Amino acid sequence: MTKKPGGGKPGAGGTRVLRTRVKKKSGLKESSRRWLERHLNDPYVQRSRAEGYRSRAAYKLIEIDDKYRLLKPGLRVIDLGAAPGGWCQVAAERVRSTEVRPLVVGIDYLDMDPVPGAAILKMDFLDDEAPARLMEVLGGAPDVVLSDMAAPTTGHRRTDHLRTMHLCEVAADFAISVLKPGGHFLAKTFQGGTEGGLLDLLKRNFRAVHHVKPPASRDESVELYILAKGFKGRATESRDAAGEGNEAS
Ligand SMILES: C[S@@+](CC[C@H](N)C(=O)[O-])C[C@H]1O[C@@H](n2cnc3c(N)ncnc32)[C@H](O)[C@@H]1O
Repeated sequence: MTKKPGGGKPGAGGTRVLRTRVKKKSGLKESSRRWLERHLNDPYVQRSRAEGYRSRAAYKLIEIDDKYRLLKPGLRVIDLGAAPGGWCQVAAERVRSTEVRPLVVGIDYLDMDPVPGAAILKMDFLDDEAPARLMEVLGGAPDVVLSDMAAPTTGHRRTDHLRTMHLCEVAADFAISVLKPGGHFLAKTFQGGTEGGLLDLLKRNFRAVHHVKPPASRDESVELYILAKGFKGRATESRDAAGEGNEAS
């Protein structure tokens, strides 16, 4: 590998960086060589290393939260598909979660190093017991449910798309069944993926629904985030809040 001065584009945050080249004689397949070169020269990858985030994905949450203000000190957060932990790091910092009283719980079936201020469950979110375990560890209803879950790629684009959309739908059902009224749901989806049923469900249950493509999400990627803000509350809670459903004395 060689570093070439001056060849770099401005990085995320505006800094000019050296461009790293991976030699054609590196022994890698050409597609892997190109992937590695792009990865090493990605300004978000460089920034995540410099700033101590586990993933470049951390900047997607940072950019979305800077714009929509979801994470505030003291709020409880569930992070679905948390490994390697970038979103958990950002959430724990922004809600000021501590080791003594973790306000963030992440779940992933992959191993993950501990994240200060976050409790981590190593478990498949599609496991029947996962929702109850998440709630037990969090110790109260979440204010924010995040999902960056993506199904492992099979190489068959349509299959990958459907499997990740399924994860997004299960995450939305979970959010609607556990969120505090006023809470928010943010999930990874695909362009064209949140039409129809899921979009209707979110519009019925939240005050505002946005599709968001943060700058850190690569232009060439079909990834898109759906953000549902201001959970209206479950039917019984809304009735209780409105004073309905009380027995006449
Ligand atoms: C794009 S990565 C998440 C990156 C993370 N937001 C970060 O900033 O580090 C997607 C994750 O979803 C996880 N995942 C996919 N399906 C899952 C499931 N059914 N249960 C738990 N985690 C799942 C994968 O293991 C993977 O680690």
